[in-house]
Amino acid sequence: MAETFTLKVRRFDPESGQAAYWRDYGVELDPERSVLDGILQIKDREDASLAIRCSCRAAICGSCGVRINGKSSLACNTRISDAAANARDGAIVVEPMGNMPVIKDLIVDMDAVHWKKVQRVVPWLLPEGEPPEREYIVPAEAMIDVTQSMACIHCGACVSACLSLEVDPDFIGPAALAKAYRFVGDPRDGATEQRLNDLAEDPHGIYDCTHCFACIEVCPKDVAPMSQIMRLRRRATGDYEIKDRNNGFGHEKAFTELIEKYGTLHEAQLVPRSFGDGSLIKGQTEPGAVKQLLESAPTALRGLRSGKVTPKKALIHPKLPDQDQVRRIFKEIDSKDERLELNLYIVGEGGGEEEGAAAEGGEER
Ligand code: SF4
Ligand code: SF4
Ligand code: FES
Repeated sequence: MAETFTLKVRRFDPESGQAAYWRDYGVELDPERSVLDGILQIKDREDASLAIRCSCRAAICGSCGVRINGKSSLACNTRISDAAANARDGAIVVEPMGNMPVIKDLIVDMDAVHWKKVQRVVPWLLPEGEPPEREYIVPAEAMIDVTQSMACIHCGACVSACLSLEVDPDFIGPAALAKAYRFVGDPRDGATEQRLNDLAEDPHGIYDCTHCFACIEVCPKDVAPMSQIMRLRRRATGDYEIKDRNNGFGHEKAFTELIEKYGTLHEAQLVPRSFGDGSLIKGQTEPGAVKQLLESAPTALRGLRSGKVTPKKALIHPKLPDQDQVRRIFKEIDSKDERLELNLYIVGEGGGEEEGAAAEGGEER
């Protein structure tokens, strides 16, 4: 049975010369229908000038990305009653996606940001040598690792939600980096090392992600872009030992070694050890480390003044009581001949409840 819902839509028409404004619309819909159905009803019955991009209405084409109650989502994939349940003040707030310029109302310029960034990562296969007479043969299991990034429908929801992009618009961003992994992980590609070098050396590349998880949370296809970025980092550091000018290699080494030693992060040692590729002594003599430590001095002083940090807390970092368990995990991983990137996005036949849950998380071991 149809119910009444209120949609509060952000309107903007650059040709009108007016600033953006909000307008409320009432729609009558079955609660199972989508927010997109509500927007299309407004266009049909009340205001044909409202602009939105859409096509399949089935979460396939990726064209109806908007922000609903502040969360980047596909309008066709969001039940209107769910959106109403999450609405503050009774109105479902619908606005264009973030981090991209608005063309009109709910339509953003995907070319200016999303597609430009995808082009930046050379989104096609660069095979080595002469092409085979017939098709390339790839073992099926070799493709499982890239299947998750192949599921991307380029809706731009992750781009819209990315906090790093908000601060640094030049960051390559979650969708384009997930696309980069699609080729880095493909055994047919012959440019893996060049691709990784390029993405590691770029100051707006793989080390510009701050692990905020926003892209994982909003992706309607479980691509888990942040996980693909972490894979790119592991390939760059673990497989090719790329010592980038962004100090990502040293930072990762310092981070893991501190966890192995203490079980939790020893913040005071992270910067110098990062500059010393894990070594505290080497790091303290690096000019870059000294410069960064001096730059962070005002923050440290503020922490000391407010009592959040004490000299004792900064210098003496206790080990976890069950630190042996953490070491055991490190030993277990080190005992393997090669690093396994198991993508649990796909589960094999007979996958039980446990495997299914892992697949929902879309993460590797
Ligand atoms: S995890 Fe990284 S890529 Fe994903 S939204 Fe956060 S900063 Fe952006
Ligand atoms: S990774 Fe997910 S959220 Fe990002 S563009 Fe692809 S499908 Fe959309
Ligand atoms: S209309 Fe195609 S994904 Fe929503």
